[in-house]
Amino acid sequence: MKKLIALVLALTLVLSASSAFALTIGFSQIGQESDWRTANTDNVCNAIEEQGWTLVYSDGQQKQENQVQALRSFITQGVDYILFTGVVTTGWDEVLKEVNEAEIPLILLDRIPSCVDDIEYAAAFGGDFVEEGKRMVRWLANYLEKEGRGEEEINIVMLEGTTGADAQVGRSEGILAELENHPNMTLVESQTGNFTRAEGQQVMETFLNSIDDIDVLLSQNDDMALGAIEAIKAAGLKPGEDIIIIGCDSVKAAFEAIIAGEMNCTVECTPLYADFLIPTIEGLEAGETYGRDIIHPEEYCYDAEGGIPYTEDGEALSIKAADVIDERVY
Ligand code: AHR
Repeated sequence: MKKLIALVLALTLVLSASSAFALTIGFSQIGQESDWRTANTDNVCNAIEEQGWTLVYSDGQQKQENQVQALRSFITQGVDYILFTGVVTTGWDEVLKEVNEAEIPLILLDRIPSCVDDIEYAAAFGGDFVEEGKRMVRWLANYLEKEGRGEEEINIVMLEGTTGADAQVGRSEGILAELENHPNMTLVESQTGNFTRAEGQQVMETFLNSIDDIDVLLSQNDDMALGAIEAIKAAGLKPGEDIIIIGCDSVKAAFEAIIAGEMNCTVECTPLYADFLIPTIEGLEAGETYGRDIIHPEEYCYDAEGGIPYTEDGEALSIKAADVIDERVY
C-alpha cells in the first residue's frame, strides 16, 4: 500500500511539472551560423521540452530545400504546431500553403517570409530588422558627434548577412535609409559575410587589401564583426580605435570585445523567443487568437560608456556593456 501511495505521489509530481497538454511541435530552424542562432535554438528547444511536449527539430543547414522538406515531413507526421523561420524571404508560398491546407497552426519566428500576407498563421514574432539597421547608423552619427568628428568625411564598409535573408534585407534597408541623413558618410564597399565569423574575417581581409582609408565597419551581425576584428588585427590595425566597429545581435562575445576596447557598439536583436512562444501555444490551446500583428521584442543597444542616443526620438540611450555582461544569457 505504501509503495502504491508513493507511486501515485511521484506520478502526480511528474504530471504537475509538465504541461497539461500533450503536444508535438515541429521546429524548422535555419542552421547554426552564429552565436545568435545557437542561443535561439537552445532557448526554443529547451522551453518546449521543459513543457513535456514532443519536439521534432530540423536543422536546415542554410538550405531552403532542406527546410521545405522538413515542413512537408512535419505535415506527414501530423504535428500539432509548426514553428518556422526561413533562411531567405522568398520561395515559401507553396509549402506554407500546404501547411495551411493541412490545418496545422503555423507560428512564425525571427525571419518572416515575404508571402506573409497570403498565408494563415496563428502568431508571429520577429526582429524589427529595418529599425536595427537604422539604430546602427544613428548610434554611429551620435558617437562621432560626441567625439567631435560629426563633420568629418567618413568611409564605411559593410558586412551583410546571408543574401536575401529577412535580417539582411531589413538591416540593409534601414542602414541605407539612415545614411541618407548623413552626407558626410560614404558607404564605400558592401559584401555578404553570410552571418558567419569565418566569412566576416575573409571579406574584411579583402576590404583591407583593396580600400585605403576605412573609418567604420557596419556588420549586420556580431559574429561577422568578431571575424573582422581578427582580420583588422592581422593587418596591424587596432580594431575599435583605427576602425570603429558596430555589430548587431548583442551576443556575449560582442560584450567582451567591447569591454576589451576592440568593438564599439552592438545593437540588440534578441534570440530569446521562448517567453513569447510558450504562453502563445498555451493560449492557442485554450482557444485564444492572436491576430496578424508581428510582435517585435523590446531591444536595446550596448557600448563601452553608455549614454549614446540610438532611437529616432533620441530618448533611448545606449547601455554600458560592462554593467550588464553578467546578466547576459547568450
Ligand atoms: O535572423 C536573425 C539573424 O540571424 C541574426 O542577426 C544573425 O546572427 C542570425 O544568424
